[in-house]
Amino acid sequence: MGELKKRAGATKGKKEKPAVAYWDLKFNIMQLSEFTGVSRANIYKLISEKVIVGEEIQNGVAKKTIYTWKDLETVINSRFCEKRVDSIDLQIKVFANLKGGTGKSSTSSQFAMTSAAMGYRVLLVDLDPQAQASLALGFDNLEDGIPTVYNCLGERPGSPDYLPIEKCVQAVTPFLSLIRASFDLSQLDFKLQTSRFGVTKFAEMLDSLRGRFDLIVIDTNPSGSISNIHALMAADEVCVIAETDYMSVAGLRQFFKLLNELKDDFGDSFSPAVRVIANKFDVREAIAQEALGSLRKNYGEQLAKIVVRKNVDLKEAQKRAMPIWAYNKRSTASKDLFALTHELLDESGLSHD
Ligand SMILES: Nc1ncnc2c1ncn2[C@@H]1O[C@H](COP(=O)(O)OP(=O)(O)OP(=O)(O)O)[C@@H](O)[C@H]1O
Ligand SMILES: [Mg+2]
Repeated sequence: MGELKKRAGATKGKKEKPAVAYWDLKFNIMQLSEFTGVSRANIYKLISEKVIVGEEIQNGVAKKTIYTWKDLETVINSRFCEKRVDSIDLQIKVFANLKGGTGKSSTSSQFAMTSAAMGYRVLLVDLDPQAQASLALGFDNLEDGIPTVYNCLGERPGSPDYLPIEKCVQAVTPFLSLIRASFDLSQLDFKLQTSRFGVTKFAEMLDSLRGRFDLIVIDTNPSGSISNIHALMAADEVCVIAETDYMSVAGLRQFFKLLNELKDDFGDSFSPAVRVIANKFDVREAIAQEALGSLRKNYGEQLAKIVVRKNVDLKEAQKRAMPIWAYNKRSTASKDLFALTHELLDESGLSHD
């Protein structure tokens, strides 16, 4: 990853899993099969034909072969894989909520990492100066000068800091790209307030990336800022991440008010699907059950079927900048976020299955 610095992660203590950033993840044959949908028998065929070779590593006294992102890409592009659908139309999903800390960055980054491992060409856009989505992928050098959305949307062509959007995109793995965030992004709203651009400017920029990606996932900051409005205007689907607690459910009304105002102002130019996703659910908490009940009552069909349970393994995975399935596949967070990824892909008609 060149100049990029990997998160150190805590590796003290025998039981600690070492940090393995997303781009450095390795796969075994079972995982290759699970993510690509290609049977293990056919993966063995590709290995015997030396189409994929992997890397040999020492595993105790024995040697074992592990496979890289490049190998996963080769399997996706092989004659055995029915997944690669080049005619997929771009879908833009914006993860949002006015309230902070509900899990926008956690769910958007995990969704992006998982769908990219399944072979979708994904661009994750980090639109929060806190840079949590960038951190979730292992990019923790947040110093000035990193290309962010500020460079393409906050600056005008001709200015020294201007970059066209494609120059802000950084490849992470064969299927996942990222537009990173840094503290610089905090200037974006000020720039947009004084700009002559309409709020559809960002949507137009993202549209210029059509053909290069199947999915654009935007992690927003917790506010009704102009930069967030730009993101919402680009959305095919708004994923409203709600915590299952009383304050969060009450706060959702404000967010829906904002969506309704945009509908009133922009009519048909603003008509994204809206999906409410319940996060941090703890069945032992009466207040969480009550909040989930209110979400079901108030949002009905708009509420995602998958409820993401509260699970500390997600925090552990994030500390190591790993997707949850690489940290602990058996955790409830891994199961829930995998199922949520499938639900979001299915409902957008993006599912390969
Ligand atoms: N399902 C979950 N189980 C346990 N912890 C979670 C879960 N989802 C999110 N968290 C934790 O909650 C905290 C806030 O999550 P996150 O940063 O994703 O929220 P956010 O909505 O992006 O916050 P902000 O509004 O500040 O951008 C983090 O510490 C994260 O690890
Ligand atoms: Mg966040």
